[in-house]
Amino acid sequence: MADIGDIKAIIFDLDGVLLSTDKYHYIAWKELADELGIPFCEKNNEMFRGVSRMDCMEMLVSKSATVVLTNKEKIAYAEKKNARYRSLLEEITPEFVEPEVRKTLEKLRMRGYRLAVGSSSKNSKFILKKTHLTDCFDSIVDGNDISRSKPDPEVFLKAAIALKAEPFQCAVIEDAEAGLSAAMSGGMLPIAIGEAKNSPLAKISLNTFGDLTEIF
Ligand code: G6P
Ligand code: MG
Repeated sequence: MADIGDIKAIIFDLDGVLLSTDKYHYIAWKELADELGIPFCEKNNEMFRGVSRMDCMEMLVSKSATVVLTNKEKIAYAEKKNARYRSLLEEITPEFVEPEVRKTLEKLRMRGYRLAVGSSSKNSKFILKKTHLTDCFDSIVDGNDISRSKPDPEVFLKAAIALKAEPFQCAVIEDAEAGLSAAMSGGMLPIAIGEAKNSPLAKISLNTFGDLTEIF
């Protein structure tokens, strides 16, 4: 596995790491679950972190013994969830990003690290643009670029290629079990923050985003 001394590139998950859009995902899934009569709470939502929209939809339906949907219906409900999520994203501005996050990204870049976003979300580029974060990264790989979402390492392996780094030269910052697992199986250094902080899959855990400047 990757070691701190080898790291040249850092790949960041988006939702729940760079900014707290994860709370909007929860609101949108919760509203849909209520509409379908499927019990859903924040604890259930933990399993949705890092997982693609349609995989989340499948997981939601599989929680119910009575709700049976055709593929077409699942796609339509997932689109409905996304429309609600996008409406919640309307309110985000550059101030939605903690100043500590922006400062840390700047410092890491000044120290010579190559930075990427590696997210399962198809809304990544929209969010990064709206919060003026796009230019903080050398590459952005998201749900539109992959065919298998986390815990598959595809998104991180693609980001590593874009950053011209070998997997062992990459650290991954994640708030999801699925993301830490993807980093591990991709041969990268898994670093946890937020909800994943106590995960046994994490090689390092951060109390705050700014801790990264003490590690790298
Ligand atoms: C991220 C989030 C997941 C979400 C996925 C797809 O990985 O952590 O909760 O399901 O992106 O997001 P999208 O914006 O494409 O629906
Ligand atoms: Mg996340």
